[in-house]
Amino acid sequence: MEKFIVEQCGPLKGSVRIGGAKNAVLPVLAGALLTENACFIRDVPNLSDVEAMGELLTSLGASIEWNRQEGIINVVVDDLKQNEAEYELVGKLRASFLIMGPLLARLGEVKVPLPGGCAIGTRPVDLHLKGMAALGAQIEQAHGFMTAKAKKLKGAKIYLDFPSVGATENILMAAVLAEGQTIVENCAIEPEIVDLANFLNAAGADIRGAGTDTVKINGVKYMKGTDHTVIPDRIEAGTYMVAAAITRGDLNINNVVMDHVKPVTAKLKEVNMHVEETPQGIRVYHKGNNRVIASDIKTLPYPGFPTDMQAPFMSLLVTAAGTSVITESIFENRFMQVGELKRMGADIKIESRSAVVEGVKHLTGAQVRATDLRAGAALVLAGLQAEGSTEISDIYHIDRGYQDLDTQLNKLGASVTRC
Ligand code: EPZ
Repeated sequence: MEKFIVEQCGPLKGSVRIGGAKNAVLPVLAGALLTENACFIRDVPNLSDVEAMGELLTSLGASIEWNRQEGIINVVVDDLKQNEAEYELVGKLRASFLIMGPLLARLGEVKVPLPGGCAIGTRPVDLHLKGMAALGAQIEQAHGFMTAKAKKLKGAKIYLDFPSVGATENILMAAVLAEGQTIVENCAIEPEIVDLANFLNAAGADIRGAGTDTVKINGVKYMKGTDHTVIPDRIEAGTYMVAAAITRGDLNINNVVMDHVKPVTAKLKEVNMHVEETPQGIRVYHKGNNRVIASDIKTLPYPGFPTDMQAPFMSLLVTAAGTSVITESIFENRFMQVGELKRMGADIKIESRSAVVEGVKHLTGAQVRATDLRAGAALVLAGLQAEGSTEISDIYHIDRGYQDLDTQLNKLGASVTRC
């Protein structure tokens, strides 16, 4: 299995271009199932999660051409051979569950393995199913599979107990071809939802209010293809911003939507970093030699502090001056990086949903393990500042969501060796 060897490095300097958002590409690929016409998706990052979604769509009968250099996927789903997703494909990628809404809308029947849990939590899909049932689907669960059937979905009024990103996306896609109007209340308002709605509307859907907590979808009969460029990845951008802060560097992070990263830039300013908007994106830099100062964080649905930035930001706060309390309110088990950071000398105590971080003077490199995508990124960031070298195993988690993180960081002055 591949490992990263991360050496302590000086201030990172230079510029990095942020790729398209993984969490926008995945639902947009699922949305392509709604039409038999060709869809072009641009600024697609070269990630194993995108690969896995492509494999899943291909297994259903889609034809996919992916020009990785150009970052363009051409997907045509004009001959859906089956409506069942294979277990091992869904097991590799939780977002596979997003095919349920579009397949139910297009074929009237879909069979999807119940996605298992993952490192950060049990990841239930009850809100997805509640939405499908509200639209008229008969839902059965047997042998680990979820089957949903509906001759024709009918618009409905749905209230989400929690603004779930995935449930909002699944329901939105199912409602696109339903009869009549669907209203989804208390839905997620993440930028990736807006991007999905823009893609679907460009392909002929009639979705209003995406980005607010109430979305109205008027069912249409037919979906064209379209040509869509996904939004930049706000979490990848945040990760590089934290890399600048951790190494007291000066980075230009380009291809960023300012609004999408506001919770992170606001927090960076709070901990004494300087953040400036530039014509291409954002400049994050450290002035003088004053220390980064501690700050409390509570993860919340957008526009609150993103849960995906909790672990990366913790790697900054472990050597900040003072005590930081980090509360993870979205997932029930998303402090997997804490044990690994403590091996590097961090002083962190977990008290139910909060981690109390006492800033220490420095970390020391150690052998650690990536447990999930963002925890893995957090360990790379911690390795940049830790004395000596840090060996990170199970880095396949990192490749799921970061394109060439090692190469990109090395261009900025880091020393990360993949071996
Ligand atoms: C999406 O996951 C993202 N993944 C996650 O990013 C992200 O952390 C999460 O949204 C929150 O922003 C993709 O977009 C592919 P949720 P999703 O449904 O849709 C509970 C990464 O690192 N819930 O908003 O699964 C759930 O258990 C990944 O890129 C239910 O209880 O997130 C969790 O506690 C990790 N019932 C909370 O809601 C449901 O039916 C948030 O889940 C659905 C969710």
